[in-house]
Amino acid sequence: MDKLSKKNMELSRLIEFSLMGDERGSLVAMDSSLGVPFKVKRAYFIFDTKKGVVRGCHAHRSLHQVAVCVSGSCNIILDNGVVRENIIMNSPIIGLDLPPMLWHEMNNFSDDCILLVLASDFYDESEYIRSYEEFLSCIK
Ligand code: TYD
Repeated sequence: MDKLSKKNMELSRLIEFSLMGDERGSLVAMDSSLGVPFKVKRAYFIFDTKKGVVRGCHAHRSLHQVAVCVSGSCNIILDNGVVRENIIMNSPIIGLDLPPMLWHEMNNFSDDCILLVLASDFYDESEYIRSYEEFLSCIK
């Protein structure tokens, strides 16, 4: 893809999950038949994030993830090396697609924020790109 196409690209792909509820309250289910674009192998969540903290700041070579802010709010910044987009995450039924080779950063966590992340594979530090300069050279 050339630089101009990348510049005109919208980076955020949002997945709307179904809200299942009854008189007892609400429930949201997530799997590959319900909008997650991969088979989920791992889930983790980030919570109790301290004021002013910025997390993420990396891209993945091959890992595909979906982030859902199941409580509170935070921002996720997406960056493809040309365009940066800020997404406000504040709904437990909206997933943000985080495909491989997309730089992402998270900030502005509310005190009650719980950010759930579904992942296509087990944790593997060697497939992280944690240097922005390396990310830029990889996507050239
Ligand atoms: P890190 O990737 O730095 O978090 P973030 O990118 O959200 O800021 O992860 C923090 C620590 O947790 C780091 O030591 C790696 C470890 N970790 C695991 O052991 N398993 C996992 O599934 C994840 C996501 C992280």
